[in-house]
Amino acid sequence: MRLELHFGDITEYKEDCIVNAACTSLLGGGGVDGAIHNAAGPELKEFCKTLGGCKVGEAKLSPAFNLPSKFIIHTVGPRFLFKSEEEIQDLKNCYLNSLKIAKQQKLETLVFSNISTGVYGFPKDLAAKYSFEVITSFLMENEYPKKVILCCYDIENLELYANILKNNL
Ligand code: APR
Repeated sequence: MRLELHFGDITEYKEDCIVNAACTSLLGGGGVDGAIHNAAGPELKEFCKTLGGCKVGEAKLSPAFNLPSKFIIHTVGPRFLFKSEEEIQDLKNCYLNSLKIAKQQKLETLVFSNISTGVYGFPKDLAAKYSFEVITSFLMENEYPKKVILCCYDIENLELYANILKNNL
């Protein structure tokens, strides 16, 4: 099975690469971004300073430093302010651009956090729907990453994805 649903703390994953729900500065924040920076240590922030920030919908790669994973892909999700098609496309691009980096790097496993569904307030049901669509179509067309793990940290996201997987796989 190339797509797995987990409930857990993304900072504990030993897989190749975890995906951070970052902010445009890439210099850390709260939520999963804060947890990842705390666990990775201060070298992560120093490295991210060399990346020159990241636009909404884009993704950038860094080492994982003190984290058990090898790499981190930092992607910046949209806030859902205007309920616009553009914001939906930005969220899809977060997943697509992260998957493209994983393909480029020939990563075996990519672990996603639920981008934009916390502080940025993107509706969890829409985020689950669109991220599932992007991930499954990418995996159908590409060998890498070999596997994607959806790492949920709250029950609401877990149940939304569980229903989608049950009805679609
Ligand atoms: N492991 C996995 N998922 C986590 C963890 C964790 N340790 N901590 C939080 N999450 C989940 C939240 O439950 C939520 O479902 O990550 C998801 C994304 O929530 P946020 O971290 O708030 O990210 P986002 O909504 O994209 O907002 C990003 O918040 O923390 C700041 O610097 C960050 O400005 C950026 C903004």
